[in-house]
Amino acid sequence: MFMDTRTSLCENPVIIADREAWEEIHLKDAGTIEVEIGFGSGEYLLRRASQYPDRLFIGIEKKPGMITEVAKRVASHNLNNIRLLESCARDAFTDLFPACSISRAYSLFPDPWPKRKHSKYRLFSTQYLRLLNNRLVSGCEALIVTDSEDYCNWMLKQLPDTGFEVENSTIPPQFDTRFERKWLKQEFSTFFRILLKKTQHIEA
Ligand SMILES: C[S@@+](CC[C@H](N)C(=O)[O-])C[C@H]1O[C@@H](n2cnc3c(N)ncnc32)[C@H](O)[C@@H]1O
Repeated sequence: MFMDTRTSLCENPVIIADREAWEEIHLKDAGTIEVEIGFGSGEYLLRRASQYPDRLFIGIEKKPGMITEVAKRVASHNLNNIRLLESCARDAFTDLFPACSISRAYSLFPDPWPKRKHSKYRLFSTQYLRLLNNRLVSGCEALIVTDSEDYCNWMLKQLPDTGFEVENSTIPPQFDTRFERKWLKQEFSTFFRILLKKTQHIEA
């Protein structure tokens, strides 16, 4: 779950390298907490953190290379309200975040796993959506944007009994992340947005 502490970059205080560093965040007293799942190159995370300096931003990403790259950028932008966690989002939500602790969560272009036999790897299953619901503060929102209509439709089917009211629409590019730019180059100009509002608390 935590980054290998032998890596010297773990000395970068932006990276949550172990449970002790996690406890030091004092989540309960941290105020408004936003979580980005699979932040990749971190453009959106950095932008939001600069826009809302009084909020704490926790980025979760399973690729160590992205963690070290983004940690350097966080330091060079002098942002002290971002922490990065190398983990699968499912494990981080299960083991680290208590119920009702997150005010906003988002995932831009989550891996769509387009092959049918790989759909079991898709993150936003009913089970994960119930966990996400549990960790969100009541009335708060989670935003998912995907380039894949198939993944969007699959997520919509996962949503019953997850305690969310859903708003879905197609949207133009607006996040300027690496993957959004990649799709734009391939002339995709419409993406699928799912906005989830927590209307009922789910025990998970
Ligand atoms: C398609 S990329 C999108 C990256 C970025 N959000 C963007 O818009 O450029 C998906 C990212 O999610 C990360 N990821 C996939 N599954 C994950 C999981 N279960 N937990 C955390 N990160 C995950 C991948 O490592 C990858 O960086």
